[in-house]
Amino acid sequence: MTQQKKEGSDKLWGGRFAEGTAASVEAFTASIHYDSRLYKYDIAGSKAHAAMLADSGIIAVDELKLIVEGLSSIEKDIEEGNFEFRRELEDIHMNIEKALVDRIGPAGAKLHSARSRNDQIALDFKMYLRDQCDILADLLQSIRRAFVLLARKYLGQVMPGYTHLQRAQPVQIAHHMLAYYEMFGRDRERILDCRKRINLSPLGCAAMAGTGLPINREQVAEALGFDGVTANSMDTSGDRDYAIEFVSTCTMIQLHLSRLSEELVLWSSSEFNFVEISDKFCTGSSIMPQKKNPDIPELIRGKSGRVTGSLMSLITLVKGLPLTYNRDLQEDKEPVFDTVDTVTASVAIMAELLENLKFRTDNMVEATRTGFITATDLADYLVMKNVPFREAHGIVGGAVAYCLDKGCELYDLSIEEMKQFSEAIEEDVFAVLSVEGSVNSRVSTGGTGLSRVEEAVVNAEKQMGI
Ligand code: ARG
Repeated sequence: MTQQKKEGSDKLWGGRFAEGTAASVEAFTASIHYDSRLYKYDIAGSKAHAAMLADSGIIAVDELKLIVEGLSSIEKDIEEGNFEFRRELEDIHMNIEKALVDRIGPAGAKLHSARSRNDQIALDFKMYLRDQCDILADLLQSIRRAFVLLARKYLGQVMPGYTHLQRAQPVQIAHHMLAYYEMFGRDRERILDCRKRINLSPLGCAAMAGTGLPINREQVAEALGFDGVTANSMDTSGDRDYAIEFVSTCTMIQLHLSRLSEELVLWSSSEFNFVEISDKFCTGSSIMPQKKNPDIPELIRGKSGRVTGSLMSLITLVKGLPLTYNRDLQEDKEPVFDTVDTVTASVAIMAELLENLKFRTDNMVEATRTGFITATDLADYLVMKNVPFREAHGIVGGAVAYCLDKGCELYDLSIEEMKQFSEAIEEDVFAVLSVEGSVNSRVSTGGTGLSRVEEAVVNAEKQMGI
């Protein structure tokens, strides 16, 4: 036997119900344990809606006054922890509306005119996400700022650049830092662009067909800081594109953080020994006394799994949903909230870690001394001496094989040994084989040459107002 409440339904929507809801159903359908997070948007939306209802002659001015005061007192109680959220009232909308009716009587019961929970939840969610976009955009600036400061600090110092995690070509440390500056810059653009589509008000679409009551959607939109109103009530009622777009952008941010984390984990290992992560951002091992573990980057890398998972949840959620609102859509909140919590915390702590990061520049430059890291420069040198690139590539390959055999680097060879591989090689080749010569020759736009990187640091500082 399912457990039942008293005769009839005590719900705000209970008119057509002869029996109360089963306790199991109340537990299964409730969202208040997570959507209570939206309370201040729900209240702000209701106040703007009520003001519009009064201006449109749907409610009286003294009723508006009661509603606004009632909502303010509810907000105060929630903020002070004196409000009891009730599971049997399902969600944030009905918890607040029921409290309002209890506090101010019949005027409270007029608030839901020309509105449905379908447009109300879309409103709350969009207002919440709009704020999260602003918070993330600011946090992304703080992490970008950290990269610019590192670039400035280490300007002129070199390290190996990698492809396939094999030493490839020497680069400026600053160039590597500014690569992340660019990546998080694109993320910020994406977040701000996503915000534009979020920022159209859904309120007034009602259940899904609009309303016959003489409302003014534009007034509510303006009062709540929206750029305008959505165009189609059916689209609006079932639309969660903006949530998917937001989480997809967050996924990209977390992926970028994860790639950075992977580098920090590698770089802080004894094998690389390129960076010193501050003690404040590491922990030890309970058994191995010598250990200092890079937990923060590891956790950030690990958390990219849950963010990607949330994106998958949302995408799968809307696949196959007919228009318009379906209760399935209530499942959109938790993945979004979890994503917000994870990504904002990850960006913030990574920015802090970077502010405390030290490079071991001696080890980095040392790592450029081996691994034939200037081999491409030798090929380019031959190209400048009119040797076709493919032929040059083969010549240098031969020289590298010779060095491997001999157990030395290209710059250890005498000019006579060099000349065995090509007559085009002359004394000036040694300038090209040096790491500094190699780095600073790469002055193509976007390249790692010192003059280019200097320019890039100055530009970034200007953009960041440093
Ligand atoms: N709690 C619901 C959600 O998050 C609000 C809308 C419910 N609408 C409805 N007709 N049951 O989606």
